[in-house]
Amino acid sequence: MTITQSIYHRRNITADTFNNKTISKEIIEQLLEAANQAPTHGHTEPWRFVVYSGDSIRTFTDAHAEMYKSNTEVEAYSEGSYSKIKHRGDTSSHMIAVYMKRGTNPKIPRLEEICAVACAIQNIWLLASSMQIGMYWGTGGMVHHSCMKQYFSLTEEDEMMGLLFLGYPSNEWPKGKRIIPMSEKVRWI
Ligand SMILES: Cc1cc2nc3c(=O)[nH]c(=O)nc-3n(C[C@H](O)[C@H](O)[C@H](O)COP(=O)(O)O)c2cc1C
Repeated sequence: MTITQSIYHRRNITADTFNNKTISKEIIEQLLEAANQAPTHGHTEPWRFVVYSGDSIRTFTDAHAEMYKSNTEVEAYSEGSYSKIKHRGDTSSHMIAVYMKRGTNPKIPRLEEICAVACAIQNIWLLASSMQIGMYWGTGGMVHHSCMKQYFSLTEEDEMMGLLFLGYPSNEWPKGKRIIPMSEKVRWI
């Protein structure tokens, strides 16, 4: 696939539609190496990855579901959300927790560190898509709650960027849609 084809092919693939097939470690390493090629202002390289596979995915999603239960007000709590969080990775091959590790160079704004990690995630997504590997970028549940920062021993300045669920899709590859016309997004001067 050319890079253009990969860009247009990439889609968010719902995590519970993977088929349990394992992605090889070599491929996961290739995806992480692609992430490592992301642009980085001041060479801070702020992307960090925690890679889960097999039973360890469930160990994490169990912990995530418990974080949801213990940090959600009774009125807002739902058994459905608890179950979704707990079972999200059931058919995934791998799950990669991604966070931004804030560098020590004060000249680099925190926002730019977050941008760099988003670029790294997009590199993973594009390369995975080009290999017909599905990826779901999840930021729901407690991803942006301080308890998740604690879980991964992050500092206040670091940022959880999301949970990437990876697997081979069992459904047809979805078609993309864009709602806002380009004319509303672009001004030509
Ligand atoms: C920062 C970020 C966070 C996201 N978090 C979620 C999420 O929590 N749940 C979800 O279903 N999709 C999430 N997505 C994926 C979007 O839903 C998806 O990109 C969007 O629907 C457009 O579809 P496409 O990626 O297939 O083009 C996230 C995407 C980004 C960029």
